[in-house]
Amino acid sequence: MARAHEPVLLAEALAMLAVRPGGLYVDGTVGLGGHAAAILDAGAPDARLVGFDRDAETLERTREALASYGGRVRLVHADFREAPAQLRGQRADGVLLDLGVSSVQLDTAERGFSFQADGPLDMRMDRSAGETAADVVNEMDEEDLADVIYRFGEDRASRRIARAIASARRQHRIATTGELAAIVRGAAGRRPRRPGLDPATRTFQALRIHVNRELDRLSDALRALAGCLAPNGRLAVIAFHSLEDREVKHTFRALVSEGFEVLAKKPVRPGDAEAARNPRARSARLRGLRRREAA
Ligand SMILES: C[S@@+](CC[C@H](N)C(=O)[O-])C[C@H]1O[C@@H](n2cnc3c(N)ncnc32)[C@H](O)[C@@H]1O
Repeated sequence: MARAHEPVLLAEALAMLAVRPGGLYVDGTVGLGGHAAAILDAGAPDARLVGFDRDAETLERTREALASYGGRVRLVHADFREAPAQLRGQRADGVLLDLGVSSVQLDTAERGFSFQADGPLDMRMDRSAGETAADVVNEMDEEDLADVIYRFGEDRASRRIARAIASARRQHRIATTGELAAIVRGAAGRRPRRPGLDPATRTFQALRIHVNRELDRLSDALRALAGCLAPNGRLAVIAFHSLEDREVKHTFRALVSEGFEVLAKKPVRPGDAEAARNPRARSARLRGLRRREAA
């Protein structure tokens, strides 16, 4: 627990970004600022960092955590898809995306991401906008719901789960993560595909991806961020599920013919020690891209 906020693949991400003093860095998913602080330290005394996060509550805490870096840091409450516009033509030496939810979001029951702690079914990273997971499970057409669970959760029991949700919501509105988890567990069947994996895991992942539009325009965003790099600048992306990682891999490959180099053929995975002490790191995959020197 003590290490719940340990940044994932920290040394590997710093190496991939080749952080240096004087550089300009963008952290598109600044979270609690673990990676950001390490970038600022590695680039001391004068590297600068612009950090984005769409979670206003997290950013308040990060503002305090990074206060000692003074004017070297700027934090922006926005989706990283807006980063290129926010940079206003400045070229970045490195851009980092550490995708998905943070451990604080997961561990705060009232944010509604976790099926392990009961809370309101919310799941929005940005609580100032958009529909909640409760809106989705109570209002979405049963077939569309099954599609979301199949597509973003890759769960073959999707139709059965959607049917159980539709039947439960006819009795009363499904309001909490605990209620939803119980419904999914009841519907998913007795033999899990992966022993030890809670049958609710895939449905919760699917709803989270849908609610936060996590895969929408991801490829376009990666291209736009790559386009903001200075010559020799690097883009490093940490993905936590295969759908996201596939998108990163394909986009990077396509950029090779446009003046970029893929930094590692295989994604970088956490070593045994990190995986053992930080369960969240186990599914992480880091990929990197470098803009070639100008000709
Ligand atoms: C895995 S955490 C990042 C942790 C961070 N690297 C650290 O060391 O503390 C992901 C963060 O990205 C944010 N996030 C996810 N998708 C985002 C997006 N499209 N735009 C901006 N922030 C996003 C989440 O709100 C969350 O705080």
